[in-house]
Amino acid sequence: MNQQMKKIAPSILAADFTRLGEQMKAMEAAGADYHHLDMMDAHFVPNLTFGPLAAAAAKRVASIPLDVHLMLDDPLTYGPQCARLGADIVTFHYEATPHVHSVLTRIREAGAKSGLSLTPSTPVEVLGPTLNYVDLVLIMSVNPGFGGQDFIPESIDKVARLRKFLDENSGRRILVEVDGGVTDKNAAALFAAGADILVSGSYLYGAADYAAAIAALKGGV
Ligand code: DX5
Ligand code: ZN
Repeated sequence: MNQQMKKIAPSILAADFTRLGEQMKAMEAAGADYHHLDMMDAHFVPNLTFGPLAAAAAKRVASIPLDVHLMLDDPLTYGPQCARLGADIVTFHYEATPHVHSVLTRIREAGAKSGLSLTPSTPVEVLGPTLNYVDLVLIMSVNPGFGGQDFIPESIDKVARLRKFLDENSGRRILVEVDGGVTDKNAAALFAAGADILVSGSYLYGAADYAAAIAALKGGV
C-alpha cells in the first residue's frame, strides 16, 4: 500500500478574484500541490460561487492539478463535466444525491479521480457500499458553504476513524482530504490522524507570505 501523502490544496474561494490567475501562480511558486475549486449552487448550500466556465479558465492558467469540490445538487451533470475539462480530482457530496455509485463511476469514466465528501454530521460507515468506486474521501471540518469558518475539533477523531475504516475495508490506498478551517493550529494533528491532502482557504490566501504559510501547514515536511 502506498505511503501517506502530505499535500496542500489552497482554496481559490479566498483569493482576490480580480487577480485570480496571478494569485494562483503565486500559490504554485510557494509550493501548493493542488488548486481547490469550490462550486456551490445556492441550493445544496446557501451560497453561490462559480461553475465550469471559471474552472476551465483556472485550468488554462494552472501548472498543478485542479481539485474540484462540488457543493451542488446535480453532481451527475457537473461531475463528469468537470472531469472532462481537465480536473484531476472531482469530489461531490454523499448527502447531495441518491445516485452516489453512478456519479463516482461517471467521474472516473470522464478521466478524473472520484471523490466523495461527507459533511460533519455524516458518519464514515456510510462509505462502505461504494468503496470500490472511490479514489478520495473528503471530510468537511466545517459545515459546507462558506470560507473562514471555525474548525470543528471532532473532525480530527473523524479523520482517524476514516483512515482506520478505509485501511480495514479496502485493499487500495484511498486518499483522505480535509476541508474547512484548516490552519497551522490543526494541520499537524490532521496529518497525524491520517490526512493526505489539507485544503486551506482564508489561512493561506490571507497570509502575507504564501510559502511560509504552506510550510507551516506541512510542518517542515
Ligand atoms: C467551504 C469550502 C472550503 C473553503 C475553505 O464550504 O468547501 O473549501 O474554501 O475555506 P477556509 O479554509 O477559509 O475554511
Ligand atoms: Zn472545498
